[in-house]
Amino acid sequence: MNITFCCTNTDPEPWLAGLRAALPQAKIELWQTGASPADYAVVWAPPQQFFDEQPQLKAVFAIGAGVDALLKLRLPASASFVRLDDAGMAVQMAEYVCHAVIRHFRELDVYAADISQGRWTAHPPRNRADFPVGVMGLGVLGQRVVQALTHFEFPVNGWSRTAKAIEGIRGFHGDEQRDDFLAASRILVNLLPLTVDTQGIMNRSTLSRLQPGGYVINVARGAHLVDEDLLALLDSGHLAGATLDVFRTEPLPVDHPFWRHPNITITPHTSARTLRETSIAQIAGKLLALQRGELVAGLVDVGRGY
Ligand code: NAP
Ligand code: GLV
Repeated sequence: MNITFCCTNTDPEPWLAGLRAALPQAKIELWQTGASPADYAVVWAPPQQFFDEQPQLKAVFAIGAGVDALLKLRLPASASFVRLDDAGMAVQMAEYVCHAVIRHFRELDVYAADISQGRWTAHPPRNRADFPVGVMGLGVLGQRVVQALTHFEFPVNGWSRTAKAIEGIRGFHGDEQRDDFLAASRILVNLLPLTVDTQGIMNRSTLSRLQPGGYVINVARGAHLVDEDLLALLDSGHLAGATLDVFRTEPLPVDHPFWRHPNITITPHTSARTLRETSIAQIAGKLLALQRGELVAGLVDVGRGY
């Protein structure tokens, strides 16, 4: 079995060593132009030339959860595409989102500013019931996030494409229930895949439906958000702030207003990192399962876009 590795965002050597240790029966090489045909591929952001030269691939494993960039390429028709399914990302996403929700709810930035000015001031406690959190996307990551939020006793709403029954969560689904979901939420967390249906989904019209004093946490993809609509709603006071981990252009351009906005917290696409060892173990297990003709979790539905 031949495996080709083409990940443009990472040092390939530790990945190659790890994959070789996990799959000693396989020949595993770093892809380069003109490489011999492989059976399987492990990829992140490969160039179009990669797929043009490897049309025979049986399966392609992405070393991330979101496959929006991959699906923009011309892909080999007969290959299966498999994304990471949690692989240690869900707990990271739960940490990040709970931290952002709690930081906003408990006014920790206000306290930090007070303390930096030498002010010892206790603000009135806020009512948790006034801060319902709405999570868009109830997949592998979204479900872990809603579960974590309920431990802190926030009212939690969830929105997905198909109906879900999750204990302790008020569930909404489909386009027809989206406005009700937004109206029931004050803090909005985005964990949707980027598809033709979800691009630009956080815009002036949808964000205006959040309860007054709304707060936006985007941990999915930058293109879900219309940047200028967020800024306008922050200026108008309808939104109180935002925590953003993902951007339309990454790294975020130095002159982008998000860098300096007092009510926006940014992080450099680090809310849930790919963990190499866990990911290699998952990919190796799935590759062997596919060889045995078994179904694996995380198979991408290319037509659906995630
Ligand atoms: P997933 O398991 O595929 O879950 C996607 C969820 O979105 C599902 O609940 C799906 O509904 C819902 N959905 C898709 N299209 C929808 C639509 N048009 N309307 C309503 N709901 C829709 O994905 P995941 O593993 O949780 O990952 C989610 C995303 O997180 C990834 O695609 C990636 O962009 C992002 N991500 C970011 C980072 C980071 O570091 N910032 C790290 C990892 C992942 P159904 O359940 O009904 O199908
Ligand atoms: C990171 O953004 C991922 O999709 O895994």
